[in-house]
Amino acid sequence: METATLSKRTFLGFLAAVPVGLAAMKTLGGDIGFVSPAYASAPSDAPTGPFTLPALPYAPGALSKAIDKQTMEIHHGKHHKAYVDNLNKEVGKDAALKDKSIEDIIANISKYPAAVRNNGGGHWNHTFFWSIMTPDKTEMSAELSAAVTEKFGSLDDFKKKFEEAGTKQFGSGWAWLIVNKSGELEITSTPNQDNPLMDDAKVKGAPILGNDVWEHAYYLRYQNKRADYLKAWWNVVNWKKVSDLYAKAKA
Ligand SMILES: [Fe+2]
Repeated sequence: METATLSKRTFLGFLAAVPVGLAAMKTLGGDIGFVSPAYASAPSDAPTGPFTLPALPYAPGALSKAIDKQTMEIHHGKHHKAYVDNLNKEVGKDAALKDKSIEDIIANISKYPAAVRNNGGGHWNHTFFWSIMTPDKTEMSAELSAAVTEKFGSLDDFKKKFEEAGTKQFGSGWAWLIVNKSGELEITSTPNQDNPLMDDAKVKGAPILGNDVWEHAYYLRYQNKRADYLKAWWNVVNWKKVSDLYAKAKA
């Protein structure tokens, strides 16, 4: 791992919370290599920790089959960075948050004020989002493919239902594929920066796929056409990573 660019609390902690194997960690941290863009640097007045912005595991223009370079640069370097900076400010205000991991904060989010929910959720969700996309062509494992077919009928039917969850989410939010408490695949959506790991989520489970349907994720290229963004997004999903997350969630 390139620990120089990733804080232990943000990235390793994140990988431990979502079920990711050592192989996936090696791929994310070592084999691909992280890009450390200048725009990721913090303003001088922002706390520099305990949470830090993880670098993208690919160049910002690498996902252009679905997401343009400028959107990625702003999304990662400005929006995600703001969630990290604002979360650090909240930690500075509340001693009880000082030594908490992001996973611990998310799992007990109902105990915290809205600013912690919004910025902590924003940090976790975006870290997850970057990790389940890739410019490379990838395929689902046989196990995940079989589970998708069993639950949704076919891959196309699954994609259609997932896209519907994204388009029907009113306002800003996320569409998710989770492994629920019964060990089954389930599609859900959450408003704002909520996610299915939060203790007060209506539908709980381990996310294995998630798409950001905030306008900041797609508006430069797709404007008001969120459905077009959701369709194009399949071109950059890292099915290998999603399959690894599925295997860990089922283990
Ligand atoms: Fe976002």
